[in-house]
Amino acid sequence: MNRPLLIKRKIIMPNTRTIRITGESFGPLDEAAAVLKNGGLVVFPTETVYGIGANANDEKAVRSIFTAKGRPQDNPLIVHIADEEQLSGLAENVPDTARILFDAFSPGPLTIVLKKKPSLPDSVTAGLDTVAVRIPSNPVARELLKRCAFPVAAPSANTSGRPSPTSYDMAFSDMNGKADIIIDGGNCEYGLESTVVSLNPSGKTVTVLRPGAVTAEMIREALKGKGRFRIVSSLRSGKTRKARSPGTKYAHYQPKARVIVMKNPTITKIKRFLLKKKGKRTALLHFRPLAGLPEQLLDIRFHSPAEYARKLYQSFHDLDRLHADIILAEAIPEKGIGIAVMNRLEKASGGRKA
Ligand code: TXA
Ligand code: MG
Repeated sequence: MNRPLLIKRKIIMPNTRTIRITGESFGPLDEAAAVLKNGGLVVFPTETVYGIGANANDEKAVRSIFTAKGRPQDNPLIVHIADEEQLSGLAENVPDTARILFDAFSPGPLTIVLKKKPSLPDSVTAGLDTVAVRIPSNPVARELLKRCAFPVAAPSANTSGRPSPTSYDMAFSDMNGKADIIIDGGNCEYGLESTVVSLNPSGKTVTVLRPGAVTAEMIREALKGKGRFRIVSSLRSGKTRKARSPGTKYAHYQPKARVIVMKNPTITKIKRFLLKKKGKRTALLHFRPLAGLPEQLLDIRFHSPAEYARKLYQSFHDLDRLHADIILAEAIPEKGIGIAVMNRLEKASGGRKA
């Protein structure tokens, strides 16, 4: 039944090439920058997840990202730049708070939503008058961006709705045949997407739209002694819940297996769960040590919240390959990176709990 589709794909999709970067030999990135300049799509590693990039000034190239991902047109993209100097080409009326935050956390896993310059194509920002900007720290991403004299619009390099790729293998399995080049730059350091924040016009209120490795606590610390600020989370407050970050209303991060979140898993609770789900191939992602786990369980243990974050999507991917039906995931405390982990688990599970 899939055959005609596959044949069609073979004919219309460009040939995807891989560029492998090892160590500090960044020379091959010249070619990737040239492809971007000419309107092509390049998948590249960042410290958070792999992105699929296009020249942000090239309306047509940007639109092809949406096609490659099957992404809804009303979900805006993050624009990536090499340094703060490029900001003036993208945003205007940049509040001092944004400068302080960029200075504190960039290059790194922080994205700031700013007032957009009219010159930036509307397809990048899905028609919004704001633009999300990020300066990634991954050396390959930085070297690529430095070679581009233009900003690079790049969402995560996954098919819309699926977990973001955090390794070359994952990026390849989603974007082979859809991008011109996939850059293999190894595994991502953080494994979860960047923290996205917006600022009110005075810059005194910082709203966390998507939690990530830069936490609200870290932001509070960076702003300490620099005035009175309010740091709020769009996840918690009922008032700001209204989809301010358009992406938040879509299904996200979902593997093929059904994800179910379990608080305080014990051997007894897990055995009871397995009994109820008899015949299902079940996996367990856990943090606490659990001695005597049933043998049939596919078991993945993380030794820290940071490792849970770093390997979560890769685990989803690996377990899909092992044809797991259910992924039981241990809930971890919502502090530090745990907030971002629980946010992704909440979405991946669609709120299902055991
Ligand atoms: O770590 C990351 O941020 C990765 C890497 C590749 O940089 N990118 C990424 O992009 O996760 P994406 O497209 O998967 O997620 C971007 C998020 C979406 O939730 C989107 O709605 C939000 O940022 N966003 C983009 N522009 C926005 C804007 N102008 N206002 C509010 N939210 C915005
Ligand atoms: Mg994404």
